[in-house]
Amino acid sequence: MTFSFPRARAFAVLRRAGAMAFLLCIIWVHGAHAAREAIASAHPLATQAGMQTLAKGGNAFDAAVAVAAALGVVEPFASGLGGGGFLLLHREADGFEVMIDARETAPGKATPTMYVGADGKPMDKASVSGMKAAGIPGEPAALAWLAEHYGRLPLSVSLAPAIRLARDGFATDERFIFVVGMRKALIQDNPQLAAVFLDHGQAPAPGFMIRQPKLAGTLEALAARGRDAFYTGDIARNMVAAVQAGGGIWELDDLQRYKVVERAPQRFTYRGAKITCAPLPSAGGLTLAQTLQILERFALRELDSVQRIHLVTEALRRGYQDRARYLGDPDFVQVPTWLATHAYADRRAASIDLKRATASEALAAMAEGDNTSHFSVVDAAGNRVAATLSINLPFGAGVMAGDTGVVLNDEMDDFAIAPDVENAYRLVGGANNLVQPYKRPLSSMTPTFVEDERGVLVLGTPGGSRIISMVLLGILDYVERTDRDIERIVSAPRYHHQYLPDRIEYEPGALPAATVEGLRALGHTVQEGRRRWGNMQAVYVERATGEASGHSDPRAKGGALF
Ligand code: DON
Repeated sequence: MTFSFPRARAFAVLRRAGAMAFLLCIIWVHGAHAAREAIASAHPLATQAGMQTLAKGGNAFDAAVAVAAALGVVEPFASGLGGGGFLLLHREADGFEVMIDARETAPGKATPTMYVGADGKPMDKASVSGMKAAGIPGEPAALAWLAEHYGRLPLSVSLAPAIRLARDGFATDERFIFVVGMRKALIQDNPQLAAVFLDHGQAPAPGFMIRQPKLAGTLEALAARGRDAFYTGDIARNMVAAVQAGGGIWELDDLQRYKVVERAPQRFTYRGAKITCAPLPSAGGLTLAQTLQILERFALRELDSVQRIHLVTEALRRGYQDRARYLGDPDFVQVPTWLATHAYADRRAASIDLKRATASEALAAMAEGDNTSHFSVVDAAGNRVAATLSINLPFGAGVMAGDTGVVLNDEMDDFAIAPDVENAYRLVGGANNLVQPYKRPLSSMTPTFVEDERGVLVLGTPGGSRIISMVLLGILDYVERTDRDIERIVSAPRYHHQYLPDRIEYEPGALPAATVEGLRALGHTVQEGRRRWGNMQAVYVERATGEASGHSDPRAKGGALF
């Protein structure tokens, strides 16, 4: 079943149907009053694909396959078969938890200096646009892995909604048009992208039907033959030929050898709440652990907003500093094991001056020793998935992989293309995150579970370097406040600090003038951003009742995304 109504109407229909405002949560209950299943995703059609899959007898993992694949069709600028991501799983029957690392890998011919010119300077745009910017995709392998190892349904069932959406088309909404507008020049430059996503070379009007028959064919092949359909054979050969013709360095062997990795999640507690989230090669879990463990040493609840934002900023500054200098793919580099220890958090907390901002430069000098789309699913059995998937910048590298209809990622830009050179999110990285063959670039994607006696919160968001601070603010709201309000968590005003650039950035209107003044008086550089950021998707299960609800960031409606 496909829907062709635009997003605004989809919301209206849900609301009329009794679902809560802004929720992408569609409720499926057999005779009970409270929902036990919920899905929050960035698009109503993707949420619907997941709910249809649950209705067919699938579990949360099958639903995750359906949602991820549908998002790749209806949000082709954010994630898809040409990208990768991290999927955090909880299986209720035995409590097993794991993260499926479906991060892209560098091609075998990649080198640490592949984005540095003969003049020794970073090449303009080489890591963000064009075939050379694309890592080997992980999402197709992740979907097949999830279905095979955790799902109950064959891919032919869980991929069916995405295949229909790709073949029959879906109607563009305001958000789609906003993102196309933002990346118009890039799309116009590529005839394949332009043919699919533009209307006669221009951004389409709302309600324009986007049909992707080639992508439907690739999804069908994946449904019929699983992982190998994408990573070997005709599709693989076609992609490699296109990448090489466009100046890229992929080889068949790079695709053949791609594997998802199952990793133990990063776990820690914050004031008694159990946090489970993405481990390396996502910086998310480790940086969250470090910053929250620093913050645990202060009585945040008793502080005014200037003091609280000051402390959160100082914790983020320290966490992102360590991200820049120490973090990288754990299969390739040694990352210090003491980063998430309480002893280190004590030392980092002690270096915070309550009355003064620490300049990031000064922090560097003090150094001891020596850098999308999210959805959340829970099913009636209590299984859950938090998944953040990405092709990096909107429409990725701005290229398609041959005749496959697959938009390729530009995730290579998440490597440090040279020490201390900023990436697209202005993150810097060190030696541990330099490009190496088959290595995974460091990520900020932070799919997370937060559990306490009140319930289980499953959350995450896109937003590049700001993902970690967004999830941090979400956890602080949940744990620090007694008036639990998940709508508030996904919609709350946001601010961010990432060590470098050394400034607090806040969403337009997010901080009152007096708070900004108070922070400046402590020595912070404080800057109002031009646009709001993030697209948080949360599902909450209340322990006492077992009731599940989905909550979507209202920002996406206003065109604020990244
Ligand atoms: O892995 C990362 O950290 C980035 N490639 C995520 C990109 C992202 O969130 C884009 N979305 N707004």
